[in-house]
Amino acid sequence: MARRWPLVLLVMLTSVLLGLWGLAATAVERVTVLMPAPFAEATTELVKAFNREHPGLELSVSRGPLETEAVSDLAISSLLLGSSPYDLLLMDVTWTPKYAAAGWLEPLEHWLGDDALADLAPGAELGNAFNGHLWRFPLVADMGLLFWRTDLMEAPPRTPAELEAISRRLQASGEVPWGYVWEGKQYEGLSCVMVEMLRGFGGHWLDHNQPDLSSPAAIEATTWLNHLVEAGITPPTVTNMAEPEALQAFQAGDAAFMRNWPYAWAELNRAESPLRGKVGITTMVSQPGEPHAATQGSWGLAVLAGSRHKQAAVEALRFLTSEEAQKQLNLQWGYTPTRVSVFNDPELLATNPVLAELKLALGDAVLRPLTPIYAQLSDLLYRDVNAVFSGAVEPAPAMQQLQTNSERLLLTAGAAG
Ligand code: GLC
Repeated sequence: MARRWPLVLLVMLTSVLLGLWGLAATAVERVTVLMPAPFAEATTELVKAFNREHPGLELSVSRGPLETEAVSDLAISSLLLGSSPYDLLLMDVTWTPKYAAAGWLEPLEHWLGDDALADLAPGAELGNAFNGHLWRFPLVADMGLLFWRTDLMEAPPRTPAELEAISRRLQASGEVPWGYVWEGKQYEGLSCVMVEMLRGFGGHWLDHNQPDLSSPAAIEATTWLNHLVEAGITPPTVTNMAEPEALQAFQAGDAAFMRNWPYAWAELNRAESPLRGKVGITTMVSQPGEPHAATQGSWGLAVLAGSRHKQAAVEALRFLTSEEAQKQLNLQWGYTPTRVSVFNDPELLATNPVLAELKLALGDAVLRPLTPIYAQLSDLLYRDVNAVFSGAVEPAPAMQQLQTNSERLLLTAGAAG
């Protein structure tokens, strides 16, 4: 028996070595990306393809909540705790200044080259590079649009007065119960609505980095939206409407106009949609001589400075934002590309007749304020104007109060910095 020991030991040693060798051979580097739920779903096929084509890597998607503030809160909690499980974040354009200022992001120009943004369509390049660094690369473009019923009118309105007149006519003839639905809930979507309205009435949110919210233009913009609710052109439920609720009402034929993002066009034109082929898009109405502004949305990928898998994270970023990936996201989910080359793709142009109009609207894109305290500024804005539309306070005093609160916030943030 004793003589067998060396043999047993040899067998054991060999199997341990073989096991270790096997482990090393199959060890994969795992890269985790946090995305809002709809993008986690839309990228499922792309992620599978990435993993097939990169045997040594495993890209895994952490599915976040739906709304931008909730996803950002989740990312920030993990970053503040110091051991974020994420290597990549799919970020809304408004988060970038805060994350960059906090040192949470890896500058991308070293990885992607100084000309990384060269292929981006005008409008899509905004909000990615500032303070001398490239912080994120946009996966999809997004811009606020006015959706209109092509079966109910010849041409879309270009001014607030026209929108009101067409709405009244169609409501009076019983063709639609309501004129115009938009995002009026107390959340980020309402700030996006306000950016377009402020510009369209000749105002600004910030002017030379100072709040400009009690200007005559800002008060007129808020007064007009409030008037739509009071006049019964916009339903009072608008104060609880986010993008899905506005889309639901419009798709059900309850309104002649809707403000939403490009994804809604694909939804409205699905085979089973009652509005298939009956919807046009354009930019938001504005007072004569003022710009038709489209709030720039967009979601882009950023690599976390604390990631231990940066090279692999950059691989995944390149793959997910490639021409091929953007084409797939447009064909299957209606997401707007960011690359000029994809906008000009003959196959996409043939299947997606609004692509050229989307590119034009993207050219009218307006950024929300690029500041690390954007989330707080926006919180003040959407709470305040939502209170107006709920009937709790008149537009002029509400905007005056908003101006004072925004000034105070900027002052405190400046003092703190
Ligand atoms: C869309 C936009 C994003 C915006 C959000 C508001 O997702 O792309 O920029 O903050 O809507 O609801």
